[in-house]
Amino acid sequence: MRKKLIAGNWKMNGSVAANEALVEGLLAGIGTPVCQVGLCVPSVYLAQCQALVAGSVIELGAQDVSQHERGAFTGEVSCAMLKEFGVRYCLVGHSERRQYHFETDAVVAAKAQRALACGITPIVCVGETLAEREAGKTEEVVKRQLAAVIHANGHCISEIVVAYEPIWAIGTGKTASSEQAQQVHAVLRSQLQAASNQAGRIQILYGGSMNAANAAQLLAQPDIDGGLVGGAALKASEFLSIIACTH
Ligand code: PGA
Repeated sequence: MRKKLIAGNWKMNGSVAANEALVEGLLAGIGTPVCQVGLCVPSVYLAQCQALVAGSVIELGAQDVSQHERGAFTGEVSCAMLKEFGVRYCLVGHSERRQYHFETDAVVAAKAQRALACGITPIVCVGETLAEREAGKTEEVVKRQLAAVIHANGHCISEIVVAYEPIWAIGTGKTASSEQAQQVHAVLRSQLQAASNQAGRIQILYGGSMNAANAAQLLAQPDIDGGLVGGAALKASEFLSIIACTH
């Protein structure tokens, strides 16, 4: 049985004071959740958040990483650097990185490979645009995105986490219905199964306007193993309610 994972993606939000209040709020109410919990924070706050979550059930994540090991890559952060701050997870290929930073499937696959080599679990994000969905291309797009990561990572693929995030649902308040999400998750699951006999343990998260009101229904689907939560991860009570839906 796969454990569920609820991962917050703070995106480019937060401040030293706000992070402290948010994490303290989470720690005050989190108890002993049945799911795993991660927070993907801006890299400048990793040290602060490492100290804030120390000794708790919350694990730390980054939002991006360089595909290179080290060297002349101004502004980039390496996996080894993330490791120094206790990072367990790293988002790779978030649609905002693909869209605003022109990350290709090959770059995303290389980032996942680098993370795995360092012992960081990459949360590989895939998802279609509204135009692609309307053109009936959802499966084709997500399978192409995942195939690049499978191809680059071979038998290590069972160590990744996948996040299906339909781009039209991110930050828009429009959630995929639980049936729509489950349908894509099942496609991704069978693609992973074809690549690895360990695919049954890979967590496939749903992301895109997940909140306290819709989480239970999404998380009840057989192939939805958790959530990647943006906006709703910025309020302790809302994020805690989503975590509680995994019971
Ligand atoms: P959202 O973001 O929950 O605000 O839609 C999710 C994400 O982009 O990871």
